[in-house]
Amino acid sequence: MSTLTPTGEEIRFRDDEFIVSKTDTRGIITYANDVFMRVSGYREEELLNQPHNLIRHPDMPGCVFKLAWDTLKSGQEIFAYVINLAKNGGHYWVFAHMTPSFDASGECVGYHSNRRVPAADALPKVRKLYARLLAEEQRHKERSKAVNASYNQLLDLLSNQGVDYRTFVFGLSSTTQLEAAV
Ligand SMILES: Cc1cc2nc3c(=O)[nH]c(=O)nc-3n(C[C@H](O)[C@H](O)[C@H](O)COP(=O)(O)O)c2cc1C
Repeated sequence: MSTLTPTGEEIRFRDDEFIVSKTDTRGIITYANDVFMRVSGYREEELLNQPHNLIRHPDMPGCVFKLAWDTLKSGQEIFAYVINLAKNGGHYWVFAHMTPSFDASGECVGYHSNRRVPAADALPKVRKLYARLLAEEQRHKERSKAVNASYNQLLDLLSNQGVDYRTFVFGLSSTTQLEAAV
């Protein structure tokens, strides 16, 4: 994980752009597109062969990554709002679509993430949720206990709303609610 201190400066990218990366099965970056390099501020050689937590932002609750990894490892895709930390300490929010990649024999050979500008109406809700999940994590000293506690909090929230995670995440914005209905 990066030891950079966030500056609070927001870095923006265009609505018609996609930030793309691919990883091997351990989450080591094997591909980064130009938009990823420009927005994160890293050169290709600084990204390739590095673990994807290089751009992890401290405001991200660990349980979102646990859910992402569990889902990818079960062979499923996942959508998630993510705040990332750029090389200059700035941050950028994305709506990520992460998928497993399979070879001809059906073996998982890595992962792929396509990220676009998140819907503005979702972000206040996501920030509030992530702050709550992070606060739960900070109540525990041991990392695995912290992540399990916030993960359970997320599951409780879904169960209270009577929705699965996918319905929940698409329901956070009026834009994606429409997409989910298509
Ligand atoms: C395809 C793919 C894309 C990922 N993209 C990001 C990303 O943009 N930002 C991020 O912080 N973690 C991303 N991750 C998750 C990281 O691998 C890691 O789980 C996360 O940063 C938490 O790291 P930590 O548990 O070491 O703190 C991605 C993982 C995969 C498989």
